[in-house]
Amino acid sequence: MSSEKLFAILIACLCLTNELALSEAVKYCYSDDEHPYLQAGTKTAYEVEHGIIKNTTVPNCKPMQIWMLIRHGTRNPGKEEIKNMKHNLPELQQKIIKNHEQYRKGSLCKKDLEKLRTWKLDANLDKHKHKHLTAQGKKDLSSLGARFKDYFPELLQSYPLDSSRRKYKFRSTDIERTIVSMDSFINGLFGNATVNNTEVVPTSKDTLLQLYKICKSWLDQVSNSSDKNEVDKLLNGSLFSEIIGNVSQRLGFSHRLSFDDVLIMYTACSFENAWHIDERSPWCAAFTKGEKEIFEYEEDLYCYYYSSYGQILSSVVGCPPLQDMFNHFTKLENGDSNEEPQGIFYFAHSTTLQLLLTTMEIAKDSVPLKASNYETMRNRKWRTSRLAPFAANLAAVFYKCDSSNKVRLYLNEKPLHYEGCEAGVCDWEYLKKKIGFKAFNCNTNICTK
Ligand SMILES: *[C@@H]1O[C@H](CO)[C@@H](O)[C@H](O)[C@H]1NC(C)=O
Ligand SMILES: *[C@@H]1O[C@H](CO)[C@@H](O)[C@H](O)[C@H]1NC(C)=O
Ligand SMILES: *[C@@H]1O[C@H](CO)[C@@H](O)[C@H](O)[C@H]1NC(C)=O
Ligand SMILES: *[C@@H]1O[C@H](CO)[C@@H](O)[C@H](O)[C@H]1NC(C)=O
Ligand SMILES: *[C@@H]1O[C@H](CO)[C@@H](O)[C@H](O)[C@H]1NC(C)=O
Ligand SMILES: *[C@@H]1O[C@H](CO)[C@@H](O)[C@H](O)[C@H]1NC(C)=O
Repeated sequence: MSSEKLFAILIACLCLTNELALSEAVKYCYSDDEHPYLQAGTKTAYEVEHGIIKNTTVPNCKPMQIWMLIRHGTRNPGKEEIKNMKHNLPELQQKIIKNHEQYRKGSLCKKDLEKLRTWKLDANLDKHKHKHLTAQGKKDLSSLGARFKDYFPELLQSYPLDSSRRKYKFRSTDIERTIVSMDSFINGLFGNATVNNTEVVPTSKDTLLQLYKICKSWLDQVSNSSDKNEVDKLLNGSLFSEIIGNVSQRLGFSHRLSFDDVLIMYTACSFENAWHIDERSPWCAAFTKGEKEIFEYEEDLYCYYYSSYGQILSSVVGCPPLQDMFNHFTKLENGDSNEEPQGIFYFAHSTTLQLLLTTMEIAKDSVPLKASNYETMRNRKWRTSRLAPFAANLAAVFYKCDSSNKVRLYLNEKPLHYEGCEAGVCDWEYLKKKIGFKAFNCNTNICTK
């Protein structure tokens, strides 16, 4: 071989190794991302979203009652999801590793690939425990209880041993994850005091927290309506087609993965991030931030037509909790405070909370969400990651004041920006004018028609 040829080969080799080194150096690593995108709709961890309440004092006012609607904490996936995770993920894991190592395809960085290699499905994940509250879910609720005790020491002292007067009211839907959430919250509030006036109402009789499960006209509307159309349009459209193509390529497949495979990886990513808030699921490395935002939009779209403004009966089935709040506050206004509890706590579901927010006209966009307007709705108000993550909660505090009474509103421990109120502090008279008519006339008789 001539020296010239040898030189050329040498140069080529040098360039090649350089290129490899370079591409490894600039390659994005999810594991190294200091600001990973953690918003995952209703599977968002509460720790990612909640605020901290700084100062609950309202000048010349005294807090009389706190009313809260609280979603259960972090839960397990559904039965089908658990089945698919167990069935599909280990195989995908092996194939992705093989794609990278044996076929030199795919573009996950080394660190992300290593994390994926050591990944194991949570051994405690059992299909008999589908949708059960997780260990993190208990923590979500007990720490929430402990913080609210700090925020409102006048209202939430210790559990009274003399229960001649019902100082506190706790009520949950008849489902494991909400009942355990209630117990965890009480534990955060009062330690291991035995609270013997908790109430669990069977779904078939729960016209307060789960009217949507029994309201016939609403059920008819939902099963009949075009809500699934927008979601299907998005799933069948070019955005999701691109996601499938991009993810397949990123993971080193020469064929297009099925939608179900891509979805189950996203499901694992969302749930694992919520179960272990100090760790990151290796499955998230399969997706870019932009792709995660599209998945987020898909759930927002679904919820918009299932439990919000896209469904005309939402503000009817979402009304009973608002009516309950208004009834309690009216009693306080009229001076019945001896009869009224200091704290009222309801434990329910993301749908319950979304319907209540919709009844109150919170997070209402002027343009409806559609499959076709993803780009223009990027700054939408209807964003379930923010509104309804695990352990999401709406708190309303009634203050008796020297002049006009006030109601203070918080969503996920942030002042709720409500039109006509200042940093979440509303005049009670204004609130009655704004939504009182709706609250006192729920019109739920249409459910039985
Ligand atoms: C809390 O806010 C009120 C006004 O709403 C103010 O008068 C008071 O000084 C504040 N207290 C603290 C400790 O910041
Ligand atoms: C719970 O109860 C046990 C026994 O009654 C007591 O020893 C313990 O200190 C209590 N824990 C808390 C956090 O109150
Ligand atoms: C709850 O416990 C207290 C104190 O042990 C008791 O006086 C009261 O009757 C109990 N209430 C109910 C509803 O069981
Ligand atoms: C759908 O709506 C029509 C009338 O609009 C009604 O007759 C039919 O029973 C509904 N179907 C379902 C499945 O609810
Ligand atoms: C696409 O549309 C068809 C019906 O038109 C539907 O059966 C299917 O589930 C949709 N979704 C996906 C992801 O293909
Ligand atoms: C898919 O990848 C292409 C090329 O990198 C990119 O332009 C496009 O935005 C990606 N699509 C999605 C939905 O992220």
